[in-house]
Amino acid sequence: MNELGFLYTYVRHVDEQDLCRLEMRAFFGEDTLGNVIKSTVRVDADRSPFMKERLEIIFEDAEFEGLLRQVSNFQVEGETFRVMSMNTTDLDGEKKFPHADRRKIEREIGLCIQGEPDLTAPAVLLGVVKWNGKWFFGKYEESKAIWFHHQKKPHSYSTALSTRVARAVANIAVPFPEGIRAIDPCCGIGTVLVEALSMGIDMMGRDINPLVVKGSRKNIAHFGYEGTVVKGPIADVRETYDVVVIDMPYNLFTHITPEGQLGIIQDARRIAKKAVIVTVDTIDNMVSEAGFSIADRCVAKKGTFERQVLVCE
Ligand SMILES: C[S@@+](CC[C@H](N)C(=O)[O-])C[C@H]1O[C@@H](n2cnc3c(N)ncnc32)[C@H](O)[C@@H]1O
Repeated sequence: MNELGFLYTYVRHVDEQDLCRLEMRAFFGEDTLGNVIKSTVRVDADRSPFMKERLEIIFEDAEFEGLLRQVSNFQVEGETFRVMSMNTTDLDGEKKFPHADRRKIEREIGLCIQGEPDLTAPAVLLGVVKWNGKWFFGKYEESKAIWFHHQKKPHSYSTALSTRVARAVANIAVPFPEGIRAIDPCCGIGTVLVEALSMGIDMMGRDINPLVVKGSRKNIAHFGYEGTVVKGPIADVRETYDVVVIDMPYNLFTHITPEGQLGIIQDARRIAKKAVIVTVDTIDNMVSEAGFSIADRCVAKKGTFERQVLVCE
């Protein structure tokens, strides 16, 4: 928590809008149709595949001159700094600032700061942004887009989720990893597992298909993460978990019957109180028959192909 809060900026495709908003609700308890969200909740900018930057707010002011006055009291702690203007794209109603204006703003703010500027290798990155009619200054962090490096996996699979969808699903399942034990018992090639493990989420994997179990283990090792993937059906899971992720097998590839799907959801209910289910088919009836209720949901699109993401409790 930070009393003044954080500003998070987002970049997402229109197809991802709904999924991005479900992920926002998981992190912040609220969402926005826009591309900036302000919250007192701290989330690393690297977590979300849709997040571009985070500003940890130190000062805010209705006027730029007022912000300058506040910043002149700011002391960088014995290190070099650089100021970044974040108005590089339209931020909700605030139009993108031209390059020259951004450099001028960065210079003016930089001149007020007590400390040594360094444009090439600064120790501290500071940000300034105009959003929602107000000026904000604070600690700046850009997402390292870790998910991007996970796109090239040694082993792939026709039914695998995209890396971005998988990362959002891991976040929706486990927004705050501390003390949470999770399982992906139909893990396929491990797309969700790789994202979860890269974010410090304690998630184990399992799959009935020995070939994908080997592939997911290799994918996890390839990126230098450590995780456990067991071969076997979900029906054999005996332990319980805080949350289960189920990317439902669907008929196109696995010839699963509706009874088989229901059995998987019933097993999910047996091993966890919360489930995040990804499904191509509409399975609301099965979800309630298994004893879950749908607390939140969205549609993740890719062109005309649609998957539903259901948060079940
Ligand atoms: C849609 S795929 C999962 C894809 C995975 N999320 C990925 O991105 O690679 C569904 C997986 O469920 C597995 N599966 C089907 N029935 C199962 C069962 N009863 N227990 C465990 N795994 C099962 C299939 O082998 C398949 O790998």
